[in-house]
Amino acid sequence: MSNERGNWGSSVGFVLAAAGSAIGLGNLWKFPYLAGKNGGGAFVIVYLSLVVILGFSLMLGEMAIGRRGKSDAYGSYNNIKKGWGFVGMMGILCCFVIYSYYVVIAGWIVKYIGLFLSGGLNGDPVDYFSTFISSGTTPIVYSIIMVVATALIVLKGVSGGIEKASKIMMPTLFIFMLVIVVRSVTLPNAMDGIKYFLKPDFSLITPKVIIAALGQVFFSLSLGMGAMITYGSYLSPETKLVKSAFCIPVLDTIIALLAGLAILPAVFSFGLEPTAGPGLIFITLPKVFSAMPFGNVFGVIFFVLVLFAALTSTISLLEVVVSFVVDQFKLDRKKATVLVSALIALLVIPNSNSFGSMAELKVFFGMNFFDFLCYLTDNILLPAGGLLLCVFVGFVWDKEDLKNEVTNHGEVKFEMFSLWIVGVKYLGIQLLSLILLQAVGVQDEFLVYALGTIFAVQILCGRLEAKRGVKAV
Ligand code: TRP
Repeated sequence: MSNERGNWGSSVGFVLAAAGSAIGLGNLWKFPYLAGKNGGGAFVIVYLSLVVILGFSLMLGEMAIGRRGKSDAYGSYNNIKKGWGFVGMMGILCCFVIYSYYVVIAGWIVKYIGLFLSGGLNGDPVDYFSTFISSGTTPIVYSIIMVVATALIVLKGVSGGIEKASKIMMPTLFIFMLVIVVRSVTLPNAMDGIKYFLKPDFSLITPKVIIAALGQVFFSLSLGMGAMITYGSYLSPETKLVKSAFCIPVLDTIIALLAGLAILPAVFSFGLEPTAGPGLIFITLPKVFSAMPFGNVFGVIFFVLVLFAALTSTISLLEVVVSFVVDQFKLDRKKATVLVSALIALLVIPNSNSFGSMAELKVFFGMNFFDFLCYLTDNILLPAGGLLLCVFVGFVWDKEDLKNEVTNHGEVKFEMFSLWIVGVKYLGIQLLSLILLQAVGVQDEFLVYALGTIFAVQILCGRLEAKRGVKAV
């Protein structure tokens, strides 16, 4: 059965593919601009703490669900506990939606590689960028190139396609990253940028910063939407889950930090603002490249590395949906890949046009199409998926069974098992409820009461478990 579904060729291959899923535009595009906007070091320190507290725990939870359930995200939840498949289904929907807009930004990256290959930017980068993204068909074509490239890899299956591609792209990405970081931190006055990025000013830590960081942890680690469940389902029974679950957040965080070090010192060195937001890598960085010697070479290296990061993530986004179609509808992988990719290609059109002809078409709760989909995934589907994941691992899944899965039936030591469960059960649920309540517009004054009520329910459920004889963990 598991062989028909596909398997990873090696644990290293799995770790690279899963790290490839996690490392993406979230690290290279979103993280530096979020840090730039939310007080630099203050944001970084909150982000790091949350990765340690939650990132590792939920990564392990998802991988365990996948390997135990041995199916796509929907099937895996259901196989462990009937009726919980809907959580996986939300995750699959979330991946589908993210894919449809993620690939628009990824298309812009392809365009910028072409730009630097053909001699770089002359003229105003702001004009260049806004003219390009609003120009109708051209950005759509670039996005479709990404859809096709992703499909060609996913078509080839788990070890022959995804694993092989990750094994080439991830090490290259890492080397290119080091080149850019070395260039950036050796520019004149780079120290200002390094300080801004790494020196926390604790007074800048506000609830807003915490919520932004929490959302980013989930997005960046591909958590709460079935991605790690899907990849985990192709694991062999011998793989040591705890070790893998540890490596991936570490790699992801290293790349996010390197991305900050690649971008912010260069931005400061040229006297530019770090707070440009989403335009940081498309507007501010091209200015940097055009002002530096051999800037076009560094431009190509930088955008190719971003492309590899984006591509290993689009592969994973597509795979989550394809594996669902294959497992649940028994369609073959080729047909499923083509079908899903065709649907995505259709959705690319309104997503891409949201930066052009449809920008002002704010008919989706006052937002345009792209913004609405981002809002839906980042603020609703993602935290809800994360919350239900915590509930499932903390309260629903039978503890014995869970422990057997995580420790390979006692073969691998995991002394922190109890601490892990308690963290997911109480802290995880509280933090995720916080983002979700805040996202659906609950006012600050009521948040405390709402969280208090949830805490009471948690304690009660814990008690009930103890009564039923579930070992207090
Ligand atoms: N983690 C990816 C990034 O940082 C984006 C992402 C979010 C993702 N959810 C995902 C990738 C699910 C694959 C699967 O860019």
